[in-house]
Formats: sequence, C-alpha cells, structure tokens
Amino acid sequence: MTASSAPGKIILFGEHAVVYGRPALAVPVTQVSARVEVAAARHPGIRIESDEVGLHSDLTDLPPCQPLRSAVEAVFHALEITPLPSLDIRISSTIPVAAGLGSGAAVSVALIRALSSYLGAALGTEQVNTLCYEIEKIHHGTPSGVDNTVISYARPVFFIRGQPLETFNVQSPFSLIIANTGIPALTKESVGDVRQLWQADSPRWEKVFDRVGEIVRQARQAIETGDWPALGPLMDANHRLLQEMTVSSPELDRLARAARAAGAGGAKLSGGGRGGNLIALVSPETQANVNAALLAAGAIQTIITTVT
Ligand code: PMV
Repeated sequence: MTASSAPGKIILFGEHAVVYGRPALAVPVTQVSARVEVAAARHPGIRIESDEVGLHSDLTDLPPCQPLRSAVEAVFHALEITPLPSLDIRISSTIPVAAGLGSGAAVSVALIRALSSYLGAALGTEQVNTLCYEIEKIHHGTPSGVDNTVISYARPVFFIRGQPLETFNVQSPFSLIIANTGIPALTKESVGDVRQLWQADSPRWEKVFDRVGEIVRQARQAIETGDWPALGPLMDANHRLLQEMTVSSPELDRLARAARAAGAGGAKLSGGGRGGNLIALVSPETQANVNAALLAAGAIQTIITTVT
C-alpha cells in the first residue's frame, strides 16, 4: 500500500484579481489535510472509495470528466501505463468542501502522488502541480493555478499566473483564525460573475485589480520584514475591494465586523467568496475573544493557524 497526504490552503491576499494577472499570496494550512491510499485489489478494475463524499464506485462507472477519474487517468497517461492494473483507491479528507480551503486540489495532489509512487514512478512536484492544474480546470473553469501551486509545494507562495514559482519568507510567525460561514459556494460562479463585470467595464475593473495587486505587494513586504500587524488594515482594504467585486456576502460581512469588534487586526474573505471562509488576524491576546465572537456571529467551525 502507498499513501500520500496534502494540506489545505488559504489565500491571504489577491483572490479574483489573480485571475487577471495580479499577484496573490497563499499559504498551506496543515491542520487539515487530504489523504489517499492506493493498494493492490483482488477484484478486477479500479475501485474508488471516499466515505466523506459518499463515493463508492468503479472508476469506469464515473462520468469521463469526473475530477477523480480524470486525475487517475492523467497519471496513467503521464506514465504511459497500459493495461490498467487492479487497484483500491481510498480517499479521506478533513478539509471542508467548497469552503475556499482547497479541498479539491488537495485530494488531486494526494491522489497523483500516491498513485504515481505506487506505480513505482513518483512524479516530481512540478509534474504533480501541472497535472493538478488540469484537474482544477474541471472544478473551476478558468483557475489561476494558485490552489494547485500552494498545495503541491506546501509552502507560502507569491503567485502570478503563468510565472515560475516564487516563495516568500515569513520573518515573524503570525496567527489567523479561519472561520467557516457554513455556506458552500462555487468558485466557478463567483469567478464567472466577476468576469461579466469585467467584460461590461474592463477599465474600471482593471483599476480595482491594480489596487488589489498593490495591497498584495505591500502585504508581502510586511510579512518579509516581520511587520505582521500591518497586515490588518491591508486585509480590511482587500475585503472592501472584494465587496466591490460583489463576491462577499451578508454572512461574510457579519463575521468580518464581529472579528474586528472583538479585537482582530483585520479580516477578509478568503477564496472565491459568497460563502466559504473568512480569515481574521489575531494576536495571542485577542485570539480567544475573536474566536468566541466569530462562533457567536454564526461561524460553524473555526481553525486557528499560525503562518510560519
Ligand atoms: O475558492 P478557492 O479557494 O478555490 O479560491 C479561488 C481563488 C480565485 O482567485 C477566486 C480563483 C482562482 O482561480 O484563482
């Protein structure tokens, strides 16, 4: 049996504008992860089991474009393996689904790694990243590639679409609370809606994306110089621009207000928006208060993570 795990992720700054060539900062979240086990099977064919999503199916019974099927077939194709061996693939994950934590990309990365290792030809990180990006296209339509990159490399990334990987140093660790609204939201839809806005008035939205890009660069500098308290106002400013892009929601805005009122340095939605997660910047002194306030304001789950 061969197993592989991949972490969740959050986008710290720059979601949506990153689709239009601006930078984004994203970090792995190791408190949650996806795990895939691959083992030889006695039955013929390839069986995929995932209790979390209630999937118990033969590979060939899944629709041709189903992401898990596509990931398995992509690995066989990349390794030029035929005929297909008989396998049991077991998937488990603690990453909330459709919440902006990269659950789909983490499952793909763990699956591609576990399967290629099992087949005796472990793929390198960049190959895993490239295959995962192809699968992300099925999930999201026109993904920027930030999710698969941060999860494949499991390191903080300064990501610009189509450019080589750039990681960054975290001079002094800082903590965030990730608060789940409990509202599943499809990134594909919010990305599509932003595209419609952009198509209707691209000069206006290019300026908004430029402002996001400036915030991302300032945030990177603050993180690299250890000035993490400066991130709070930058998070608030990024959230306002995401509101302007119509990708926030009353629930996200309520959580953001509650976090700030309880002492968070700043707060913003993270990921596609409309639901999913909010992130709030906390210190050791404010952490407990902010956590309680987020739960009281309706968060169904919180994760406290330290960015290092
Ligand atoms: O919803 P998530 O966490 O997968 O993040 C999507 C990030 C976007 O910038 C909205 C889309 C993208 O492809 O980068």
